Amino acid sequence: MSITGVDFSFRRLCAPYIPTRFEFASQTRRKNEYACTCTAVRPVICSSSSSSTAVSDSNENHVSTSYSRRMMTFMITFLLPLPKLMQHSGADANANAADDLALLQGEIRKVLSKSKAAGFLRLVFHDAGTYEMNDDSGGMNGSISFELDRPENKGLKKPLKILVEAKKIVDEKLPVSMADMIAVAGAEAVSLCGGPKIPVQLGRLDTMVPDPEGKLPEETLDASGLKQIFRRKGFTTQELVALSGAHTLGSKGFGNPVIFDNAYYKVLLEKPWLSSAGMTSMVGLPSDRALVEDDECLRWISKYADDQDLFFEDFKNAYIKLVNSGAKWRRES
Ligand code: HEM
Repeated sequence: MSITGVDFSFRRLCAPYIPTRFEFASQTRRKNEYACTCTAVRPVICSSSSSSTAVSDSNENHVSTSYSRRMMTFMITFLLPLPKLMQHSGADANANAADDLALLQGEIRKVLSKSKAAGFLRLVFHDAGTYEMNDDSGGMNGSISFELDRPENKGLKKPLKILVEAKKIVDEKLPVSMADMIAVAGAEAVSLCGGPKIPVQLGRLDTMVPDPEGKLPEETLDASGLKQIFRRKGFTTQELVALSGAHTLGSKGFGNPVIFDNAYYKVLLEKPWLSSAGMTSMVGLPSDRALVEDDECLRWISKYADDQDLFFEDFKNAYIKLVNSGAKWRRES
């Protein structure tokens, strides 16, 4: 988009000037086929080379001097402000990207509620978490649409269906991929529940086939198994611990199920599952409990339990990495 943005903005800005500035050049240079088609950037390139040719092969010095002077004026008028123009065009492209993101956010917010937030966030992990670095397979590509019957994806039909409906409305104004919809929906879910605001870049492509099976971590894994599987997806132990904080949402007993905070880490440190009292023994998945038994994970769990801002910052960065995992991006023309 940025290249297109630069091109068109420059063309727009120059259009009123180019014909008059080039009138002289094209008249005097006709026999040398001054074939400048005057697209956005070309006039500038053509003008500098044709200026020196005009001086060397003209018999009429006064014409060439005058021509050179005019070309100099042209260059000062157009070349010097070029960086500024490019800057403006870059700003245009950024503004367009922000508008596109706002459109998706707007439609997603219409269908999102706190009670649906956990499902939307889980959808992100189950689409992106299939990524394998070694063969660049899986990842954030909308393949979850073809994988809903897999046991690990139980319960995800509903949130996906909601996003498919929202996508239809977005598509009327801006064709968008399912992968982008899911990535933005997860970020909106986090933000709605009081978590960090996460900027999501758009432009992912959807795949037309399911990802390979068995790529998501099983809840029975111990810490070294979890670390290993996350490493294969490009994530450090710190990022594994930060992303696992997503379980603060939902029904696994880590604080308020619709508030995104650092309760997950605080509860992990308390190890309530060791207590025989009532429901506390039900708190957390085996994989959550395993993290706190690992020294390296425990260090991060303690930091995030002490410092919610740090958790938010690290979660935000790890989330951005997650939704970009294995993504194939639209090429701008
Ligand atoms: C570390 C490895 C992970 C394992 C083994 C795992 C496994 C699970 C399991 C078994 C559930 C319960 C589903 C149910 O209630 O039926 C769950 C819930 C959830 N997972 Fe994970 N998960 C992991 C990492 C993640 C990550 C990285 C995210 C997002 C960034 C995530 C987001 C969620 C959310 C939001 C829920 C709550 C869903 C709800 O209550 O509706 N999980 N996870």
